[in-house]
This record gives sequence, structure tokens and C-alpha cells, in this order.
Amino acid sequence: MIQPDSLLAAVGKDAKAAALAHVDAAARAAAEIPDIPPDTPLRPIHRAGIIGAGTMGGGIAMSLANAGIPSILIDQSAEALERGLQRIRDNYAGSVKRGRLTQAVVDQRLALIRGATALESLSDVDLVIEAVFEDLALKQEIFRQLDRICKPGAILATNTSGLDVDQIAAVTTRPQDVVGAHFFSPAHVQKLLEVVRAAHTAPEVIATLMDLGRRLGKISVLSRIYPGFIGNALFRNYTREAHFLLEEGALPHEVDAALTRFGYAMGIFAVHDLAGNDVGYQTRKAQIATRPNDRRYNDIILHLCDLGRLGQKTGKGWYRYEKGDRTPHRDPEVEQFIIDYSAKLGIERRPISDDEILKRCLFGMINEGARLLEQGIALRASDIDIVYITGYGFPRQHGGPMYLADRLGLDKVYADIQRLHREQGGSYWEPSPLLARLAREGGRFADL
Ligand SMILES: NC(=O)c1ccc[n+]([C@@H]2O[C@H](COP(=O)([O-])OP(=O)(O)OC[C@H]3O[C@@H](n4cnc5c(N)ncnc54)[C@H](O)[C@@H]3O)[C@@H](O)[C@H]2O)c1
Repeated sequence: MIQPDSLLAAVGKDAKAAALAHVDAAARAAAEIPDIPPDTPLRPIHRAGIIGAGTMGGGIAMSLANAGIPSILIDQSAEALERGLQRIRDNYAGSVKRGRLTQAVVDQRLALIRGATALESLSDVDLVIEAVFEDLALKQEIFRQLDRICKPGAILATNTSGLDVDQIAAVTTRPQDVVGAHFFSPAHVQKLLEVVRAAHTAPEVIATLMDLGRRLGKISVLSRIYPGFIGNALFRNYTREAHFLLEEGALPHEVDAALTRFGYAMGIFAVHDLAGNDVGYQTRKAQIATRPNDRRYNDIILHLCDLGRLGQKTGKGWYRYEKGDRTPHRDPEVEQFIIDYSAKLGIERRPISDDEILKRCLFGMINEGARLLEQGIALRASDIDIVYITGYGFPRQHGGPMYLADRLGLDKVYADIQRLHREQGGSYWEPSPLLARLAREGGRFADL
């Protein structure tokens, strides 16, 4: 097992330099796809259509405009469209105010974004990116219409966060043109693009999307279909364990302190408060009635929302906030709520060390990363690292979760995961067979 506190041991200068070199190499390697040669002809992308002028659609339109690509932004009503366009104007006005862009440049970019309310306007675009609500039936209905409206060869992409892209492609007569383009919020700022390869996506469609990410100044990483793709699959493990730690005895500031000492710029609970604790609330509430009841769920965040503690936007969440100030302050009210919640679950609270916090939060991600590799969801361990560094704030100096695991020694990581599996029971900590094999053979993820 890994010695206590080893995860918090300062990373030496040489180790840090090696990790940073790994991150650079990982970013380059992500562009290489073994069965798609670099000289694969790309489909030209001169004009795009975006469906849904909400948070993501607006950000994607800005990202395209920033790269000089004109787009038609669609929403279902004139009001929704105008709201979306106004948010874009406001965002750009903010950049002018902060001195990042001149008004002339902003005017040029705004001129590249045209609004419309009819999908028929997309008959001549080279690429469509759908960003409507996360609802399979709605997305399928849109793709049925796109299949009828769009010109042959147009790429039909969905920004779904986790729906099965094959089920969306299946309603069209051209599944070879359908692909996932998972942007991160805010899409005009975040540097990660997960390109999701469905069963029938054509190689040149993947090559074109990977290249589009590069044109937009992003790092594109290829993922196969999997719940949450690469990034959110790992993130699910990270947040679940952080929430369980609260139930077992830790408080939000203790978990966050361990994570920031490890190198994260913000702890997970401060991140939740920033993003809004209600992200995914409706979906998760709706799942409660039908989800399997053979496991433990991290529902505490749902209860926080029911209390109106949505995060910074309501002045309280896992912390409390002074008006106009984003500094998190401990809040005895939420801490008492957490303590009572443990009692309600019948859990006797205990002191939890930084070492346990880190292992619970990080090793679940590593185990999930190993599963992604054994199932071929991610092409290589370094792709998982780059997703985590670019999209989820994983500290660069540790090189990414899979690199960290290699550095700690997979035999030691595996021993800890086996112990956690024994202690926690259930399926979450079931060790990945790939991890078990590598641990036995003295192997590394990097050598796969
Ligand atoms: N918000 C995020 O952080 C995030 C990150 C990655 C991916 N996603 C995914 O992106 C998609 C959009 O998410 P969002 O956060 O931008 O949602 P949102 O609610 O902000 O925006 C959705 C927009 O789609 C419009 N819309 C709904 N039905 C429509 C229709 N039939 N025709 C045209 N427009 C329609 C709505 O009016 C709304 O403006 C979802 O699939 C979501 O899972 C979201």
C-alpha cells in the first residue's frame, strides 16, 4: 500500500518537469488515431449551424466566430433566440470592457453569427452542432429533421453530455455522418473537445472534428461511447467519493483543503458552489424512481438544492458567501446539516485523514480510467490524462491521474483499491481487471 501522506509529498523539481513534459507529449499524442491516417482527407467546414441558443450553443457559436467560422444559431422561438444572442453580445461586451478585444473585432465576430428559428435554414451548412436539452427523444426528433434537411456530406454532431450517440445516429439514414462533439462550459473558453466516435462514424468525419478542435484552439480527444464519455466518467467517481466522505465524517472545507494541498486550484465543494449545485438536479431526481437499489448513492447534493443552497448564486451552498464576494466561508448551518444527515443514514462519523481523502477521490478515477482502457473507450492512458488536465483542473505537476498511478506504482495503487473494495463493499471499488493484471506483472499504463 502507499504510505500515508505520500500523495501529498512535494513533487520534486525533476518529477515536476517530467510530469509537465508528459502533459505536452500527451496533448500531441491525442491527435493520433491508429486507424485514421494523418493524411485522411478532411471535409471542408466553411459554415456551421448550431441548434439551441442556450449556455452551450451560445458558447459554441462564439468559439466558431473566434476562429472565423460563420454560423447560424437556431432556437425554437424568437424570444429564446434573442435571449441567446443577447447573452453572446453581453459576453463579448465583457471582453471589450476588460480590454481583451476591441469593439471592431467584436463587431466582426458578431457579424459571423446569424440567428434563425427554422431548422430549414441549415440546408446548406457543412456542419451542424446540436445543443438542445439533454433529452434523447428530443435530440432524435431533431436528427430526423436534419437528415431530411441537410445537404449530403454535412457532418451532424451532438453536444450531448452522455446520451448514446448510436441511438441518435440510428434515426438518420446517414449514421456515418453522425458524431459526438462534447464541448465544455463555457465553450468559448474551455480548451477541451471530446470527439465521440459512434459505431458507424466515418473516419473522415472524426478526422474533420479532431481538426476543427485544433482550429478552435482546443485539444481534441477521441472517446468511444460510454456513460459520461472519458471526462465525466472519471469525474463521477471523484465527486461520489468526495460526497461519501462527508457522510462518513469529513466537512467540505476539509475535503477541499486536502485537494488544494495536492495541487487543485479549487476543491470539489468550492467548484460545486461555483458551477451551481443544481447542475443535473432534474435528471438525477427523475432517476431516483427507477435506479437500482443495490448500492449507495451520493444524494446529499440533492438535499442541499432542496434547501435552496445552490451555491454562489444563492449566497450559500457547501459554504456561505458575502454579497459580491466569491470567497467561501465555513457555514455552521450546512455543517450541522451534514452531521445530521450522517445520523439519518446511521453512519457513525469518524476523523478522516488527508491521505484517505486523496485516495478516495483519486484512486476511484484511476480505477475507472483503467476500465476505459480495457474497454477501448479511451485510446491511451495519456488521453485520459489530457482530458483531466485540460477539462477538469487536475494539477499539471502530477501529469494526470493515469501518469500519477504509474509514478506511485500500479501494484501499490491496486493494493489500496482492493482494500477500499473490502472496506466499502459494493461495486464501485471493484478493481479493474486490467489494473489487476498490470499490478501483477509490474506493468504501467504508459506501456500499453
Ligand atoms: N451546460 C453544460 O455545462 C454542458 C456541458 C457539456 C454539454 N452539455 C450539453 O449541451 C446540451 C445543451 O445544454 P445547455 O446547458 O446549453 O442547455 P440550455 O438549457 O442552456 O440550452 C438549451 C437550448 O436549447 C433550446 N431548445 C430546446 N428545444 C429546442 C428545439 N426543438 N429546437 C431548437 N432549440 C431548442 C432551448 O430553448 C435552450 O435555449 C445538452 O445536451 C447538455 O447535456 C452541457
